[in-house]
Amino acid sequence: MRILWRLYGYSARLLKTKLFRTAASNTSFPEVWILLIQYFERVPGFFCVVRRNSFFTMPEILENKADLELYSPHPEVRGMTTLDRAAFKKTIVVPVLKVKKVVINKLLKSLKHTTLQRPGLKRVIDDPKDEDNRLVLLDPHKISAEYSLGESEQEVLKQFNTDPHVSKYNLELTYDNFKTEEILRAVLPEGQDVTSGFSRIGHIAHLNLRDHQLPYKHLIGQVIIDKNPGITCTVNKINIIDNTYRNFQMEVLAGEANMITKTRENYITYEFDFSKVYWNSRLSTEHGRIIELLKPGDVLFDVFAGVGPFAIPAAKRKCSVFANDINPESYKWLVHNCKLNKVDKKIKKFNMDGRDFLLGPVKEELTKELSLLTKERKNTLHIVMNLPALAIEFLDVFKHFLDGKPCSTDLLPTVHCYSFSKQDNPAKDVQERAEAFLGTSLEGCCSTHLVRNVAPNKEMMCISFQIPAEVLFKKQCTHEESPAEPASKRLRPNEDFPE
Ligand SMILES: C[S@@+](CC[C@H](N)C(=O)[O-])C[C@H]1O[C@@H](n2cnc3c(N)ncnc32)[C@H](O)[C@@H]1O
Repeated sequence: MRILWRLYGYSARLLKTKLFRTAASNTSFPEVWILLIQYFERVPGFFCVVRRNSFFTMPEILENKADLELYSPHPEVRGMTTLDRAAFKKTIVVPVLKVKKVVINKLLKSLKHTTLQRPGLKRVIDDPKDEDNRLVLLDPHKISAEYSLGESEQEVLKQFNTDPHVSKYNLELTYDNFKTEEILRAVLPEGQDVTSGFSRIGHIAHLNLRDHQLPYKHLIGQVIIDKNPGITCTVNKINIIDNTYRNFQMEVLAGEANMITKTRENYITYEFDFSKVYWNSRLSTEHGRIIELLKPGDVLFDVFAGVGPFAIPAAKRKCSVFANDINPESYKWLVHNCKLNKVDKKIKKFNMDGRDFLLGPVKEELTKELSLLTKERKNTLHIVMNLPALAIEFLDVFKHFLDGKPCSTDLLPTVHCYSFSKQDNPAKDVQERAEAFLGTSLEGCCSTHLVRNVAPNKEMMCISFQIPAEVLFKKQCTHEESPAEPASKRLRPNEDFPE
């Protein structure tokens, strides 16, 4: 089921399914599946094709394997824990072509797919025997075993009156000429995963090292700095995020220990102390998705705002924003980023618990906004709650939240509430838990969106819905209904909440 769910998520994205709609997004589940099943049925050999394809990719794999052997640094670096760049030197034999200096530039253009491409390596070097010539280094995998060039290259050489004879050259590769993966593969124990992926936050590379990589952590950190221009500091997460402020303890692996960084997301610049606030570059698409739903004049309440990745772009879209975070450091950088992005006047900032924020400033503003909204003046109201471990538990706040007459359905505020789920059907799970805290059914009037897969068997979801009027508003007494009437009679669903 989980695999099916993932496939659904990916196929929904592929098919560009609009995931925000007023009907439950679960309803699109069958649609997508029908499409997939129809596709597979029409192509009975689908699974064979997949297999055949992977068979066809073998030559590529072999080439990579040959690359790995040829471009592996000196074997003595295996097990190195303190980086000694000089130890990586290795001499390999590569094919070279003698070319007259006068034609070299034109020839290089035609031979660009055959020349040797390595980091920090010049493709053309001086010929020690003849100063009128230069040597063009060729890729050993792009020429035949007999050391001759292909027909098309030979044709080009003829045009430039150049001898097609290819000779051998002893090339010394240094640390600078190896790629990160080649270096780490040579250092870490054979057969172990060397994945060198990281998130980049300004000048900081944030790694998530596995246990077997820890003895090499400082070396890995330094290699990433060396190989990625602009990165001057590498950090490794040392605990899971479970504290209130959702920041994590980190260890500096290499480079300067400056945690104040500047990064850009969706064309907006943010500055913050990465060690003290929450920031996740993987949420940029999700931030963008929510912002796309807003139009000028809308109001956004961001209950768990962090340093402002929903609030600031919303203000840039000319929305009125109320942003809150309990972490004084997040609040400080939120204020800073509002000024930095010149949206200070559009955002009211708060540093309080989310529940107090909802019961105080949000309640007050919603009451005001809903009294102003009419069928003609239809700006929408949005409440974003991105604290996936806990946000759902805050939903009970909305029960009988507002006094006054219920507004028409289309003016009701929309909540975007995030949650993790480890269930087989995360959409159903999140919907059921939201319903339990709201005390009402959301069937047919919510949408769920798969934000990202956080860990094996753990998804981050966003459930969006307009708060049902019968939940949001306090009960109204009508003439026919006396307060003494039994609750069962008064609580008939929707009776008091006309469209
Ligand atoms: C997962 S982060 C999301 C930050 C930001 N909205 C984003 O998308 O990157 C959750 C934020 O909620 C804040 N937070 C945690 N508990 C809170 C609470 N009870 N009230 C208000 N903010 C809280 C944390 O400090 C953190 O900045």
